[in-house]
Amino acid sequence: MTSNTELAQDGFLSPSLDDQVAGVRQRYTEVFGARPEWVAAAPGRVNLIGEHTDYNAGFVFPLAIERYVVIAGGRPLTPAAEDRVQVHSSLLGETAEFSLTRLEPQRRDWTSYLRGAIAGCLDRGMAPGPLNLLVDSKVPLGGGLSSSAALEVATATLIEAVSGRTLDPVDKARLCQKAEHEYAGMPCGIMDQFSSALGAEGKLLLIDCRSETAELIPLDDPDVAVLVINSNVKHELTGSEYPERRSQCEQAAKLLGVAALRDVSSSQLEAAEGRLEPLLYRRARHVVGEIERTLRASRALQAGEWPLVGELMYASHASLRDDYEVSCPELDVLVELAHDIGADGGVIGARMTGGGFGGCIVALVRSGREREIAEQIGAGYSARTGIEATAFVTKPARGAHIVES
Ligand code: GLA
Repeated sequence: MTSNTELAQDGFLSPSLDDQVAGVRQRYTEVFGARPEWVAAAPGRVNLIGEHTDYNAGFVFPLAIERYVVIAGGRPLTPAAEDRVQVHSSLLGETAEFSLTRLEPQRRDWTSYLRGAIAGCLDRGMAPGPLNLLVDSKVPLGGGLSSSAALEVATATLIEAVSGRTLDPVDKARLCQKAEHEYAGMPCGIMDQFSSALGAEGKLLLIDCRSETAELIPLDDPDVAVLVINSNVKHELTGSEYPERRSQCEQAAKLLGVAALRDVSSSQLEAAEGRLEPLLYRRARHVVGEIERTLRASRALQAGEWPLVGELMYASHASLRDDYEVSCPELDVLVELAHDIGADGGVIGARMTGGGFGGCIVALVRSGREREIAEQIGAGYSARTGIEATAFVTKPARGAHIVES
């Protein structure tokens, strides 16, 4: 069983962004021999509800988390070439380089996200010039918390600082989404980059992914906290599941004669069941139901109807597990353990969050009981799977910004 101290050491509480920035500045100076000129930060996100709905023009309900990617930048002391970017990752302890005039979309490595975001900035006429960059991340990698979107958005934000030009934040999210599509080969929706670019302290984002607009909804009940528990598994599978789900949704929409599954209600879908083969029907049922659950959950949350919010979270998980088939046994165990603790034990609701096949669950819990709940779930999880979970609490955090020097 994990003790309180271990959880704290394991980053149960949010790390300070100021400390992270100070560390990044220092590391930049050590690696590049001068002080950085610009620093930018962009957060990861956790999605409260609304999974696999963004690419169906639906609604999602995420929050930016208090875990940031921080990038420091400066001019090389002796530029080897006008178009050269050198980038050091403090996580990998490794330096890579690339050319601004040959960004190589097909080259796949950890700099893909940076190259893709820079490509979008160049498309918009920004001219960063030769750079040294130092990247650090407190967003757990591969945990479904959008570490890649945070890296893209932090890069674009740093280029804003370098070029002295401000991008419209929604356009910044879009250019980062394109980076993910073209440089990382992942045909994602807009949720992750949007949350990182537009996140707001204390607020959830109810994003309408069709109009690409968001309503900011306060999460300000002092009695409710967000707990994220990482299963610490990532089933690689073949990597084809996400694009496959996307295309199944497109096929279903086409067969139903609508532009996107957003345009169908649950009752319309039920009435049209005969027009879809069973698998496509189940996929569509998840998406259509999830969009409705997301809107209901956002209203219930604003009204403080916590039991209903919890019920919708569990229903979302069941639908992702049974109809959309993107959960995995480890995530199911975590959600089951949370459910077993129940409202009396301080758990309002829980579900898998992000793309699926591993990563994290998100739970809403009663404030003051976060550690106890995380420990109890962690103990049950390791007993049943032999794997140690890691957990942390977060409040909705500020989105991407230039860190003033
Ligand atoms: C990944 C994608 C998002 C979204 C989620 C599922 O995180 O990047 O665009 O589709 O999966 O909700």
